[in-house]
Amino acid sequence: GTVRDLEGRVVVVSAGGTREPIDPVRFLGNSSSGKQGVALARAARARGAEVVLVGANLALPPEGVGTYVPVVTTAELRTAVRAAASDADVVVMAAAVADFRPAHAPDAKIKKVPGRAPAPIELVENPDILRELATDRLRAGQVVVGFAAETGDADGDVLDHGRAKARRKGADLVVVNAVGGGRGFGTDDNDVTVLDAAGDVVATAHGSKDEVAHAVWDLVAKRLA
Ligand code: C5P
Repeated sequence: GTVRDLEGRVVVVSAGGTREPIDPVRFLGNSSSGKQGVALARAARARGAEVVLVGANLALPPEGVGTYVPVVTTAELRTAVRAAASDADVVVMAAAVADFRPAHAPDAKIKKVPGRAPAPIELVENPDILRELATDRLRAGQVVVGFAAETGDADGDVLDHGRAKARRKGADLVVVNAVGGGRGFGTDDNDVTVLDAAGDVVATAHGSKDEVAHAVWDLVAKRLA
């Protein structure tokens, strides 16, 4: 059987992708499936933890995850995660959180006016929930974990982007995930590098999202011990 190394621990996991309303029927969103976050919640339960899963727009209510709190927007996700985090030993931010939201969402559907150019959608920045959690440490000794989905590009490789992000966020661990070209979002397999707050590599993991989840909990359990 699985090791029960999270027995007596309370963990909060966020999963899915937030949606920001443009009007009552439209939103800005992303294509996160929530599979990695759900796998993390299930794995933590299997290892004995009490789990709160805050799920943003998951296709189905997941089973076997413990307490499930469904949310839609980044503001709702932030409130739910912070409320649960005040009692938690560990917070894992696996959700894809919208960096920006429309500044105004009218109560009525935006209409197309023939012959007139569409009005631009003004965006404002969302709070960085992970960065806040890492700064605030809502419970003493809390381990804070983030994810970073990165694409390689001309500015540098996946790991360079991840390293910069790890340093900026201040989380204890950042799980860097290569996405694009059929990897990451929506797929069943993952290929990750885990960095510490200094941006140094502490582990790599390949395999199913369940295997990656257990690799992350192995590292977290070590830090809790
Ligand atoms: O900056 P970026 O969105 O790539 O960072 C990804 C990590 O930060 C994830 O752990 C995500 O859950 C978290 N995040 C957050 N609040 C935001 C944006 C991202 O907590 N506004």
